[in-house]
Amino acid sequence: MSLRTTALAKSALFFLLTTSNFLLPSSAGAQSKAKQRPWMNTSLSSDQRAAMVVKEMTLDEKISLLHGTGMVGLSPMSPLAIHSNGGAGYVVEIPRLGIPAIQMSDAAYGVRMSGENGRYSTALPSCIAGAATWDLQGGYEYGALIGRELRAQGYNMSLGGGVNLTREPRDGRTFEYMGEDPVLAGKMVASVIKGEQAEHVIGDIKHYALNDQESGRNAVNVNIDERAARESDLLAFEIGIEDSDVGAVMCSYNRVNGDYACENKYLLTDVLKRDWNVKGFVLTDWGGAHSTAKASAAGLDQEQPGWIFYGDELRKDVESGKVPQAELDDHVHRILRAMFATGVLDNPPQKSVVDVERGFEVAQKLSEQSIVLLKNEGGQLPLDASNVHTIAVIGPHADVGMISGGGSAQVDPPGGNAILPPGKGQTRWLEPVWFPTSPLKSIRAKAVGANVQFDSGADPAAAAALAKTADVAIVFAYQWESEDMDLPTLSLPEHQDELIAQVAAANPHTVVVVESGGPVTMPWAGHASAILEAWFAGSKGSDAVANVLFGDVNPSAKLPVTFPRSDADLPHPTIVKPPKQSIPNSTKGDVWKQIAAGLPPFQVTYGEGVKVGYKWYDAENKSVLFPFGYGLSYTTYSYSNLRVTAGKNPQVTFTVTNTGNRAGAEVAEVYASLPAAAAEPPKRLVGWSKVPLKPGESKEVTVDVDGKFLSIFDVKQHGWQLVPGEYNFMVGGSSQNLPLKGSVSLN
Ligand code: BGC
Repeated sequence: MSLRTTALAKSALFFLLTTSNFLLPSSAGAQSKAKQRPWMNTSLSSDQRAAMVVKEMTLDEKISLLHGTGMVGLSPMSPLAIHSNGGAGYVVEIPRLGIPAIQMSDAAYGVRMSGENGRYSTALPSCIAGAATWDLQGGYEYGALIGRELRAQGYNMSLGGGVNLTREPRDGRTFEYMGEDPVLAGKMVASVIKGEQAEHVIGDIKHYALNDQESGRNAVNVNIDERAARESDLLAFEIGIEDSDVGAVMCSYNRVNGDYACENKYLLTDVLKRDWNVKGFVLTDWGGAHSTAKASAAGLDQEQPGWIFYGDELRKDVESGKVPQAELDDHVHRILRAMFATGVLDNPPQKSVVDVERGFEVAQKLSEQSIVLLKNEGGQLPLDASNVHTIAVIGPHADVGMISGGGSAQVDPPGGNAILPPGKGQTRWLEPVWFPTSPLKSIRAKAVGANVQFDSGADPAAAAALAKTADVAIVFAYQWESEDMDLPTLSLPEHQDELIAQVAAANPHTVVVVESGGPVTMPWAGHASAILEAWFAGSKGSDAVANVLFGDVNPSAKLPVTFPRSDADLPHPTIVKPPKQSIPNSTKGDVWKQIAAGLPPFQVTYGEGVKVGYKWYDAENKSVLFPFGYGLSYTTYSYSNLRVTAGKNPQVTFTVTNTGNRAGAEVAEVYASLPAAAAEPPKRLVGWSKVPLKPGESKEVTVDVDGKFLSIFDVKQHGWQLVPGEYNFMVGGSSQNLPLKGSVSLN
């Protein structure tokens, strides 16, 4: 029997043994079990249920919940790892008490590792694309789809929920996060987590905190002042956590103000568990633990993926009293509480066939809602299929696929990487994966009568020659991103700027579709007639793009990040790279041991503080390529009748009108500037509403503004404070187009 078959047989046996404990129809046996396991009484609170289990547990059982069972290359491996469902994390079951295993899978934009497990997962548009919809209901559907597919594949915990702010847009994980604004990012991630947890999987929010660059992530020490941290990166987590009752928080690899995030008392206890009153548990990023007693006292609950510090070492520290029993019990309680609260025990996952059709439907709908129309000169778009006779489709691999985000977020495409031969396209770390969603095919399907030709763009002159012969040239450009790397620059790679410039010079009707995980620079923007930002568009990306190009869908997305003019305009023109001594050296033994021991730190200082994204460009008076909150539509909107009502949570009321002749949905954005005494950047987003409108229709909209979003973080009082004075509210369709203005006095 192979290892895997043994594992399957064992888990089947375990399943029979454990499920029979509480899934049998009402019988004397079941009733006596229920008596023995009073925590299976669903009328009790999750805290009561967790407390009952903790009371029954032995020290060994407690310790077993506080760590994983290993991952090759990152920690030692336990023989018990054969019971893993094949995801990134596995915490053993406690059959004696009917506590199931925690089977964790990465699931940023879909369930990871489906390829090597012989399963299928839907790729949603990347997380930043989700944020570009500004649609909380859409965010919920995003999470619910992930939750359903996790359950169908046998998992009960997600490792998604990335919400680090786009402080450094060259961060290779920008696509996994929700953009540069804490209110938008926090609200969106909360809606995703709510969708996941409603499907009875434990949700996770990560990477807490300030893990804003990949370069030297296991060594870097991030320096930031407390007020700036609380009002920027931490506020995104605060909102995400507050709105979702998330089961788990993953602490990050980096150090923050001197201490590793996973043993940082300020982050884990003072802020997370005390100020925010988080009831869930804190688990390390993979290999993010560096101590036992220090981490435990700081508030770390679970080590992943192994047990370097939270196995025997923890047991010894508990036995010697170095780690108090109450502290140990609190770690255990939090994990059990998350399991009860999300229904992991009451509604265990049932393996089944992933609903591929439903996945396609949701992925396409969300992708359509996430595509941002950045430029549309002379109404170039939408294309009229009956009137376009020749189309040149140009760009790397635009005949077969669209690029996807890499690293631990990677979803495996059905059939493998679309640019590799069948059977050869397995996902590999740090290799770009193209999804089999073909722009060429989708465009051909729309423009049935047209002559649609393809050129890869490898030779820009040949591509330009083809473009010259066509009514319209559509260039698909890409910028790949992945965990474990940062982009050297926001410029497009592989001479794509030159390709686009040559095509645009050859054809005045050049449309550029950008597939990227975040902002890119566009030296050719003045020459293309239309530009779409399609992000990493997911399983049905090409159909979604075609629906926008040909007007079946009216674009309604808005940028969740600023597109700067050049790298030089960023707060940090270059990313600080780790010195040699801060990089693990495989010739000096196991890399994971060096990381666990702690690599010598190097410093990154976020002197720009709270000025992240548009707050930076506003404060520094720098013009940008496309501002935060910007996005066009095939119709037009007007704003009128602003009224602001003062109060603890002020209300901002206004009217939005669709002044064009197509139905659409406008993201109406509300910004505020604080009194001068607050010493804040010129404005901040404080709310929004996505308003569907028929042609000619007007709607009155009221946005309730949370008083916290108008406050500053007062370090001395250690809390949010409203600075008394005049507050200016601005309303409109982007951070730089705010036609309505009104002020109120607040105190
Ligand atoms: C990533 C996490 C991920 C974990 C497990 C780490 O490398 O930073 O986001 O959840 O691996 O795969």
